[in-house]
Amino acid sequence: MTRILSAVAWPYANGPRHIGHVAGFGVPSDVFSRYMRMAGNDVLMVSGTDEHGTPILVEADKQGVSPRELADRYNRVIVEDLTQLGLSYDLFTRTTTLNHHAVAQELFRTLHKNGYMIEQTTSGAISPSTGRTLPDRYIEGTCPICGYDGARGDQCDNCGNQLDAHELKNPRSRINGETPKFVETEHFFLDLPALADALGDWLRSRRGWRPNVLSFSLNLLEDVRPRAMTRDIDWGIRVPLPGWEDNPNKRLYVWFDAVIGYLSASIEWARRYGSDADEWKKWWADPTAQQFYFMGKDNITFHSQIWPAELLAYNGHGAKGGSPGAYGELQLPTEVVSSEFLTMEGKKFASSRGIVIYVRDFLARYQPDALRYFIAVAGPENQDTDFTWEQFVRRTNDELVAGWGNLVNRTANLVHKNFGQVPEPGELHDVDREVLARTAGGFATVGEHISRHRQRAGITEAMAVVADVNKYLSDTAPWKLKEDRERLATVLHTATQAVSDCRTLLSPYLPHSAQRVHEIFGGTGQVEAAPRIEEVTDLDDAGVSYPVITGDYSGVLAWESRPVAPGTPVEAPTPVFTKLDEGVVEAELERAQGGA
Ligand code: MF3
Ligand code: ZN
Repeated sequence: MTRILSAVAWPYANGPRHIGHVAGFGVPSDVFSRYMRMAGNDVLMVSGTDEHGTPILVEADKQGVSPRELADRYNRVIVEDLTQLGLSYDLFTRTTTLNHHAVAQELFRTLHKNGYMIEQTTSGAISPSTGRTLPDRYIEGTCPICGYDGARGDQCDNCGNQLDAHELKNPRSRINGETPKFVETEHFFLDLPALADALGDWLRSRRGWRPNVLSFSLNLLEDVRPRAMTRDIDWGIRVPLPGWEDNPNKRLYVWFDAVIGYLSASIEWARRYGSDADEWKKWWADPTAQQFYFMGKDNITFHSQIWPAELLAYNGHGAKGGSPGAYGELQLPTEVVSSEFLTMEGKKFASSRGIVIYVRDFLARYQPDALRYFIAVAGPENQDTDFTWEQFVRRTNDELVAGWGNLVNRTANLVHKNFGQVPEPGELHDVDREVLARTAGGFATVGEHISRHRQRAGITEAMAVVADVNKYLSDTAPWKLKEDRERLATVLHTATQAVSDCRTLLSPYLPHSAQRVHEIFGGTGQVEAAPRIEEVTDLDDAGVSYPVITGDYSGVLAWESRPVAPGTPVEAPTPVFTKLDEGVVEAELERAQGGA
C-alpha cells in the first residue's frame, strides 16, 4: 500500500470548461486515481476552482458582475460538469475559502521569514486613459525571447516562457489597444536564483517522467530570475505583512496561491472528512508518500518550477537556508504528468469562434463513458491530437458499441436465455483455459501501463483482450451448443468470467458502464467510485456555503480477477452503450457553425 496524492490542476472559474480542458487534467487523473485505489493504495485526489487573478477579473468586467459573483457561478457549473463526467475527487473545493487564504498566507509568511521573498521596486503598467493599474495579462505584445506577436504580459504561449509586461516589445492594452504607461511599484519576488541549485538537484533525481516534460523543466533552470509573487490588483489574497495587508490594491499573484491549493485542499479534506484534522500529513509529511500532478502542458512551469520552489523555500532548503513553518517539512512532487493539447476539427479551441464543445453540452447528448473513452484512446497523451465528430462517432460505434458493448450483450443474452443465471461449468477445454489466461493476464499489463501514465496503451490492451473474448465466443459458438448442455454451460460460464475480468480492466476508464455491467451480471452495491456533490459551509465562515465534490470510495472492487459465482441471476440486458446515428457528425458541425 502506498499513499498517493493525485493533485489535479485547478480550472479557472471564469467560464464553463470544454472537452479540451478535461482531456488535459480531468480524465487522465481520474483513470490513474481509480486504478490506484483498486490496486490497494491510499489515494487522496484533490483540486478545486482557481478563482483569483486577472482571468476572473477580465471576465467579470465583461459580464458586468463582481468577481465573486462570477466565481460563484462558474464554480457551480464546473462542479456539476466534473461530477457528471465521474471524476472521483476526494475533495474538489475552491480558492476563495478562508482555509485556502490562511494556508496561502502561512506559506507566504514562512517564505518571507526564510528570506526567499525579496522586495523590489519594479515597473508596473497603468492605463493612461483610466489611471487604473493594468495587470500583466491585460497587456499583449511581441515576445522578447521568441518574437511571437501574441505574447501576454505574464507568459508567452508560443515558447512557454514567463514574462514581465515591461519586457514586451510594442506593448498594448488588450482592453482598448492603448500603449500602457509604466510606473514604479513595489512587489515581492520569489528568489528563484537562491533555489535553483536545490531545484536542479530535485529535478535530476526524478525518474520516469515523460522526457519532454523533464527536459522542458530542466531548461527553465538555464535562465532563472526572481519572479513577482504579488500584483497591483484588488481581487485575490491579501499580502500578509505589516504595511501590506491593509492595502486593498496589493494581492498575492494568482499562480502563487493556486498551486498552494493542493496543500490547502488536502488540509480542508482532513478537517472535513479525515479521521483527524492532521490526516493530510499522511500525503505531505511522509517521504514514502507519492505525489502525482496532472495538467495540460501550459501549466508545466508552475508545477515543475514555481510550486517546488515554494516548497523548498518553505522547508528552508535553498541557498539562504531557513526552517519549515507551522506545517513542518513538506514533500515535493514525485512526478509532473503533463498532457499535450487537444484541438477540435483541426483548430485550437476558441469559444469566440464556435470552435468549442463544452462538457455540459457534450454530456447532454452523449454518454460520459463515450467521452472518457475517446480521450483515453485518442487524447493528447504524448502529442497534440484532434477531436473530430467523425472520429468520435467511429470510435463509439465501432469500438465501444460493436466491441465491448456487443460482448456484454451477447454474453448476457445467451446466459439469460439458456440458464437465467451463471451456469455451473463442466470440465474446461484448452480454448476455455486460454481465454481465461488472457483476461487474467490483462491485470498485470493494463495496470502497469496505467501506473506509468501510458493510458492509451492501457486501454488499447484492454480492448485487445475484449476482442479476444469476442473471438472466443465466435470460435466456441455457444448458439450451436443447444444439444450439449454441459459444454454450453462451460462455455457460458467461461465467457461470463472473461466479461467480468474485462469489466474490471476497463473500469478505471469506463466506470459508469462498468457499474452497469456489474448489475447486469447480478452484482449488487456500488462498486465504482461515484463522486457526489455536497453543499458545505465554509469551515471558517459560517455565512458562506458552496458545493464540493467528494465521495466514499471504500467500496471499490480490487484490481484482480474475481471468480463469478454459479447461480447468480443474469438480466436480459439493454444495450450498455448508445449507438450513434451517422447524422450526428453533420448535426454537430452545423451546430458549431450556428454558434459562431
Ligand atoms: N487555473 C489554471 C489554468 O487553468 C491552472 C491552475 S493549476 C494550479 O491554467 F495548480 F495552479 F492550481
Ligand atoms: Zn515567446
